[in-house]
Amino acid sequence: MGLRVVVVGVPGVGKSTVVNGLVSEYHGSRLVNFGSVMFDQARARKWVKDRDDMRKMPVEKQKRLQRGAALEISRMKDKVVVVDTHLFIRTNEGFWPGLPFEVVRALKPTHLVLVEASPEEILRRRGSDKTRYRDKLTTKGMTEELELARSFLTVSSTLTGAPMLVVNNGDGKSDEVASALSNMLRSAGS
Ligand code: AP5
Repeated sequence: MGLRVVVVGVPGVGKSTVVNGLVSEYHGSRLVNFGSVMFDQARARKWVKDRDDMRKMPVEKQKRLQRGAALEISRMKDKVVVVDTHLFIRTNEGFWPGLPFEVVRALKPTHLVLVEASPEEILRRRGSDKTRYRDKLTTKGMTEELELARSFLTVSSTLTGAPMLVVNNGDGKSDEVASALSNMLRSAGS
């Protein structure tokens, strides 16, 4: 069986930066952004114009997109698939799981990777990225989200039996983290 690596982390922690580095080092791997697959489906239905509006929709509608994205990704047959996604989404109805049972059952992850950084680093990165509309949080709120992420991660690991790895994407460390993950996959695939 191939490797299916699910990479998660709070918005702005640098997941996409890390996974882009990972797939450019680990040749032959396919990168898929779960949110982009959902967004393509949401746009086709004329539900939203901006990806940051998806989490404001009623959760029932988001669930339809989530199920559709999981199904589409589950059909990918590449030897190594890296999925960039979320453990939870801050919706108007509360925190909602990004990897509920039916989603992890479809994705069948072989590895779960949580990208972390300090609350201050994440808030600074969010603030300097003007291309996105991200929720405004205090350091305390961000600390709570980081704790929540670890709780959701242990549930996903328990449900799937996939090992979970926590990596620290501190300032200037994204290449180092990508290399470490690439080495881990090389040894897992051999
Ligand atoms: P998505 O597109 O994944 O949104 P996001 O979490 O905001 O992800 P980003 O890719 O924008 O942030 P990032 O953490 O990857 O940080 P980045 O690398 O850009 O998801 C969009 C939406 O899809 C979600 O809101 C949700 O609605 C939906 N969705 C997704 N998955 C779902 C699921 N499973 N179920 C339901 N809904 C789902 O980096 C940020 C900045 O930091 C950049 O400027 C970068 O240059 C900088 N940076 C990164 N690393 C470092 C470093 N080490 N040092 C210094 N700067 C750094």
